[in-house]
Amino acid sequence: MQQVQSAAATLDADPTIEMAREIAEGFARRPKEIPAKYLYDALGSKLFEAICELPWYRITRGEHSLLAAHAGAIMSASGGCDTVVELGGGSGEKLSVLLAAAGGRELDVHLVDISPAALAQSERNLAAHLSVTLHAHEADYETGVREALRRRRTDGRALVLFLGSNIGNLSPDQAGHFLQELRRACRPGDRLLLGADLVKPEAELLLAYDDPLGLTAAFNKNVLARLNRELDADFDLLAFDHCVEWNPAASRIEVYLVSRADQLVCIRGAGCCTSIDEGERIWTESSYKYEPAGIAEMGARAGFTVREQWIEPESRFALTLFESES
Ligand code: TRP
Repeated sequence: MQQVQSAAATLDADPTIEMAREIAEGFARRPKEIPAKYLYDALGSKLFEAICELPWYRITRGEHSLLAAHAGAIMSASGGCDTVVELGGGSGEKLSVLLAAAGGRELDVHLVDISPAALAQSERNLAAHLSVTLHAHEADYETGVREALRRRRTDGRALVLFLGSNIGNLSPDQAGHFLQELRRACRPGDRLLLGADLVKPEAELLLAYDDPLGLTAAFNKNVLARLNRELDADFDLLAFDHCVEWNPAASRIEVYLVSRADQLVCIRGAGCCTSIDEGERIWTESSYKYEPAGIAEMGARAGFTVREQWIEPESRFALTLFESES
């Protein structure tokens, strides 16, 4: 494992070496951990798109209906912004709904994503908006948003979009830090539209992350197939179960892969072998669920004031429009 770490230090830019380092580090933790971003290879991204169509996973549909119903209000409460930055936007579909409500106004639109495939897809989906000038940033959220807001061509306002349940996959500390960094990159009066999933009955939450068709289980286990392929590992996919728990104290869904037996797994590309006990859990994702007032408080701690909050009653999903304070 040591060797892998020193190799990664010198060859930081190579994604496979970066992955090898992060996987070796994750398996050295207790509980063992696989960073959630590795769920989204080509097949993983397709499986996630399919999850968004499931009747039990309502985040995407809930958010879409809020955007469709309130796009006009969101754009007018954004005070004539002329720059829009979307962080981790995926296909660009949500942005498209908002842009359609901008009334053909000239806009600079910045897309920030670590996935070049996602950027290319958004660019294709947004090509029809002729009054929009697109800028793509292949970067993490913090770097990308800083770059986008620094490169602004005008004195006008910016609207930053952080949608889906993206904030939910950050721990409260990470979310607080992220919002502070974002606030530092903003000018007073800039807006932030934040999507967040709300706390709801446990049975509903469990079904959203462990659906009866087994799509979410396939999505979760696919990360092991990816490690086998890209890091020459020897995970037996049938020796793991998908497992989901609601942790009320932390207000989060926890997603694991649980070992069905005592086993030894080698991840050659990460330079490590690891023994896994029967019943031992590998942590692959947390998804935090919020109360509406908690979203406002989290923004306030970072220097954002709530302008408006919209809640979709069926899915219990919230969109909150913040203004950056002076
Ligand atoms: N960002 C999504 C969420 O928190 C990701 C997600 C949905 C997910 N279902 C999953 C991640 C199952 C891991 C396993 O809702």
